[in-house]
Amino acid sequence: MPGRPFLQIPGPTLVPERVMRAMAQAVIDHRGPTFGALVQDCLAGLKDVFQTTRGQILLYPGSGTGAWEAALVNTLSPGDRVLMYETGHFATLWQKMAAKLGLDVEFIAGDWRHGADPEALEKRLRADAEKRIKAVCVVHNETSTGVTSRIGDVRRAIDAAGHPALYMVDTISSLASIDYRHDEWGVDVTVAGSQKGLMLPPGLSFNCISPKALAASKSARLPRSYWAWDEMIANGKTGYFPYTPATNLLYGLRESLTMLLEEEGLDAVFARHQRHAEATRRAVRAWGLEVLALDPREYSASLTAVLVPAGHDADHVRKIILEAFDMSLGTGLGKLGGKVFRIGHLGDFNDLALMGTLAGVEMGLTLASVPVKREGVRAAMEYLADCAKAPARRAA
Ligand SMILES: Cc1ncc(COP(=O)(O)O)c(C=O)c1O
Repeated sequence: MPGRPFLQIPGPTLVPERVMRAMAQAVIDHRGPTFGALVQDCLAGLKDVFQTTRGQILLYPGSGTGAWEAALVNTLSPGDRVLMYETGHFATLWQKMAAKLGLDVEFIAGDWRHGADPEALEKRLRADAEKRIKAVCVVHNETSTGVTSRIGDVRRAIDAAGHPALYMVDTISSLASIDYRHDEWGVDVTVAGSQKGLMLPPGLSFNCISPKALAASKSARLPRSYWAWDEMIANGKTGYFPYTPATNLLYGLRESLTMLLEEEGLDAVFARHQRHAEATRRAVRAWGLEVLALDPREYSASLTAVLVPAGHDADHVRKIILEAFDMSLGTGLGKLGGKVFRIGHLGDFNDLALMGTLAGVEMGLTLASVPVKREGVRAAMEYLADCAKAPARRAA
């Protein structure tokens, strides 16, 4: 179809033209001097994105799932107990991985409409008098539900329980879209990927690790090879890798870091994502539909999951929208299959791109005979126009 496709899944996101151009270069020697300097530039920028000075960043050629595995195998030993929280599909997958790796997983049940409950975690940690729990793992932004967990509050809960467990957080769909503070929130391993807020294609993933996590890795006994931190760190001292890195993605990363940090600024990036999320929720309510997230403190700024009324199939709505308007929306994952569609509003995105997205959804809902009021686009437009009048309140 002519025109720009609307890739409104919650990642991978559209990659800006200039990032594509930055990647369209001759492949260079990954053991030569040019490459070492490129890696050092990327690592310096990433530290600002993770909001860390103490943390060390490891860059993998791999997807987010690999970075999950790296976090677990580098810090834990067979049979170690880990406490995880069922916020949705991705938390469930991480938990399954931990079990497959031979960890003893305790999974606190959730309803997929709330984030990790700091009080429930504190209670469980207080009860662990023998300190058998070695790690607490939480997904910051549950991409399957559009619900964020309050990572700083979970840190306070761990501290209030006086528990020494490592704290691991998945920021795959929040990093560079939603405020995230690796150091301030005392996170030991932050897991991230390239294909969402960082506006890159899939293929790079990250661990940001604290000194405590690094110390734990010295005695951890789970088998590891490709994901081993020690070899990465030893090679990384000079900006190189133990194996062939994703060279051209790093050119793109350097460009996207310039856009995020030097041009727009992280605070403005976060405010923009909040503004688009609020406009989207106003549209959803004006249609007469329901947002899946129930607690306003936990609304995601990078995506919104929308419940379709009983008797309607969210995947049918998505199919109609794709066929009629060349727009892809996120499908309902796991037990939400057919019940929700997800609107991604993250990455390289602006007010008019959001309006095009919401117009496509409103038309598609009508075409699919879902009973909605045709008021959503107008509600979002009014909100965005108000924000433009009062830039200081743009994030409200
Ligand atoms: C929150 C979250 N965690 C983990 C993953 C898995 O990452 P990947 O598909 O890059 O392996 C995803 C993918 O969308 C995700 O959204």
